[in-house]
Order: sequence, then structure tokens, then C-alpha cells
Amino acid sequence: MSVTILVGGQWGDEGKGKVIDLLADRVDMVVRSQGGNNAGHTVVAQGVEHRFHLIPSGILNPDTLCVIGHGVVVDPNAFLQELERHQQAGIDTRNLMLSDRAHMVMPYHPVLDKLGEEMRGDDRLGTTWRGIGPAYEDKVRRIGFRIGDLQKPAFLEKKLRFVLRLKNETLTKMYGHATFDERAILDEYLGYAERIDPYIRDIYPVIQDALQHDRRILLEGAQGVLLDIDLGTYPYVTSSAPTAGGACTGSGIPPSRVGRTVGVFKAYTTRVGYGPFPTELTGELGDRIREVGHEYGTTTGRARRVGWFDAAVGRYAVSTNGIDSIVLTKVDVLDALPTLRLCTGYVSKGELWDHPMANISHLKHCDPVYEELPGWQTPTRDCRRFEDLPAACRAYIERVGELCGAAVDVVSVGPDREHTLVRRLPLAA
Ligand code: IMP
Repeated sequence: MSVTILVGGQWGDEGKGKVIDLLADRVDMVVRSQGGNNAGHTVVAQGVEHRFHLIPSGILNPDTLCVIGHGVVVDPNAFLQELERHQQAGIDTRNLMLSDRAHMVMPYHPVLDKLGEEMRGDDRLGTTWRGIGPAYEDKVRRIGFRIGDLQKPAFLEKKLRFVLRLKNETLTKMYGHATFDERAILDEYLGYAERIDPYIRDIYPVIQDALQHDRRILLEGAQGVLLDIDLGTYPYVTSSAPTAGGACTGSGIPPSRVGRTVGVFKAYTTRVGYGPFPTELTGELGDRIREVGHEYGTTTGRARRVGWFDAAVGRYAVSTNGIDSIVLTKVDVLDALPTLRLCTGYVSKGELWDHPMANISHLKHCDPVYEELPGWQTPTRDCRRFEDLPAACRAYIERVGELCGAAVDVVSVGPDREHTLVRRLPLAA
């Protein structure tokens, strides 16, 4: 039971990178299992900032095996650029491998992503325009290209001829857009093939071997539970499954081998893109939290929407993922506030809800039910143990855990490694 799953408990950007960094040195293997280069996190190691989109941040540790699993969609160009950036920073990338079953983002996917968003008008989702949704669409439609196809040029060419006919027809007839040229795509992708080839692997035997030898494995999630294609605030979601279930299917690791599921939550809530957000703060207070918390996206630079901690969302994430350990990040961002609010549920059409309802319009217009707690109005950055935190801060943290239904094992009060207060290491035994 040496497998740990790490998921984002809200709408992404919970600070998962920092937790992965904390745990990566203590595991033998880190596996990324869904999403693509729509994700992004920054890790500061030895004073140097490293940005990650596709490659697991475990790569910073030369002894950790880093796997990009088959549930991920890989933009080969973005992958190679990220790889080169890390190599130039002196990072050893020999321990990196890419599943031959992972699907690829093709050049027409980002174009279709943007055109699709424009066509939705006011109902747009606010995607990252990285082509992630269209790539997953094609995977499910069974016209996707997999990383392993790069090793089969004749097959790639034959399939592209058929698929590109469909794509070009959509581009011209639906959107009046220019077509893509088959030869140009082939040349581009076969060029990538040569450079990606050393990283392509059938990851099944690698993972099975690690399981058999009881190696410690960390499954690194991207995005968050409320962005899950099934459990999230559909259609304002991403196109993959950022849940514990998705981590298993996206890596080929059976649920029975999972020893711990860790949920990372921010001490308040943020979301980028559109969609319902019951506890959103649209006024001055929201702006203040955004500025103090530097709430601007790593991938797109967009300003994040900000709101109170939503424990109805938290409880939903804990119970649908089996989260048994919470990491609460960015607690210091709340340091100056005189009073804090925790949302415990919603009232919609006269009915009390303890979890986000499927009806998106009801969720958008519901009234959150709040509990008010006193703020601590003391800086927490210098605290190094949980016991050092002000009493009101500890009370807030314990209440978050109580309402969500899992223990808060780690608290983060700043961006650096020393700002992480560990009560219990959130890792499977
Ligand atoms: P897509 O994943 O680019 O299709 O975007 C769908 C939705 O998920 C949009 O609201 C994005 O802003 C959101 N999203 C995708 N990746 C992330 C992430 O890493 N953090 C936060 N939101 C994300």
C-alpha cells in the first residue's frame, strides 16, 4: 500500500507543486496521470524558480523516476520546450519517461479550442486555449494520436490523412478558418519524434515492477476535483478526471494499492475561467486577497477569482476521493483579516444543500450559509510548528478539517520549503 494520491480539492491552483516538492524526495516514483500543459506550478528549490506544466516536479530529484502516464495529453512541442528549459537549468532528465499510450495535442487542437470558445460567446468556459479539450474529445472519439504513433511513421501518415479531412472540413465549414497541411504536420511531428523517442516507454512493466517491489509511488494530480469532467461544475470543467479515480485509470495503478489520498486545499478559494463560484468575493476584499495571495495564473497569467473557503466543496472533495489527509496552503494570506467566513452549505430554492448541486444555474444563484470566525491579525510566516500559530488561526484550521471531514496534516504559511508546517507526513506507509 505504498501509493499516495495527491489531488487538488477545489478548482485547481491549490499549491500542489509545493506539496509534491515536499514529498518527492521521499518517494521512488512520481506519476502524472491526467491533464496537459493547461496545468502549471512553480517550485522554488535552492533559491531557483522552476516552472512545470507537463513534467512532474519530482524531476528535481535525480533519484526519482518521473512518469508521464497515459491519462495525460501531451503537446510534443510544449514537452520538448519544457524539457530543454529544465536541461539548461542543469536538471538531469534521464529518469523521465512518457507513456506510449498518452495522447498528443495536435496543431489543430489549440486552434479549435479557441474557435470553439469564440463561438460560445457569453457561454464560453474560459479554457486555457492549449487544445486540451479538443485533444480529449478526439481520444474519446477514437481519432486521437498517441505518443507511440510517433514511432510508426507510415501509420501516422495514413491516419492523419483521414483525420485531417474531418478537421479541415470542420475548420472551413464551421469556422471559415484556413486548413492544415498534412505534409507540414507530418514533418513537424516526425521532427519531434526523433527528440522524444528516448523518453517513450511502455510504462505498464515499469509500474508493475514498482508495485511488486513495494516502491513508494506518488500520483501527482493536476487541476482540482471541481474541475473534474464528471464530478465538477460541468460544463465549466476541464476535460479529464483530476480525481483519485482518474489518478488510477491515468496511470494503471489499481485502487487497492492506494495507501493514502491527500487533498490539497487553499485556505480560501480561487478559480480561473467562468462558472459558478458561490463564495466569490467580487469587491475590495476579493481584490485585497488576490493581491496578497498573488492570485494570477502560472499558465495564462489570468487574474484568479477569489472567495471564502467553501467547506461544502471541501466535504464533497473529501468524500468523493477518499481524502484522508488535508494540506492547507496559503494560510498566511488571511493574516490581516479581522473576521473570516467558512461556507458550510447553500440554500437554493428554500432547500439546504450540504454539497454542490448538479444544476449549474441553481449553484450560481444559491445563497451560501456562513460560519464566522475571528481572524488572528498576526503574521504567521515565521511560525515553524503548528503549535506556534496564533490560537485563532489554529481554530480556523481545525474547523476547516472538521467541516471537510479529514485531518489537516500540513499547513503552509509561505512559498518556501521552511514555510511548511508538517504535523504528520501525508504519505502512505
Ligand atoms: P481547459 O482545461 O484548458 O480546457 O480549461 C477548462 C477550465 O479548466 C477553465 O476554466 C480553465 O481555467 C480551468 N483550468 C485548466 N487547467 C487549470 C489549472 O491548472 N488550474 C486552474 N484551472 C485550470
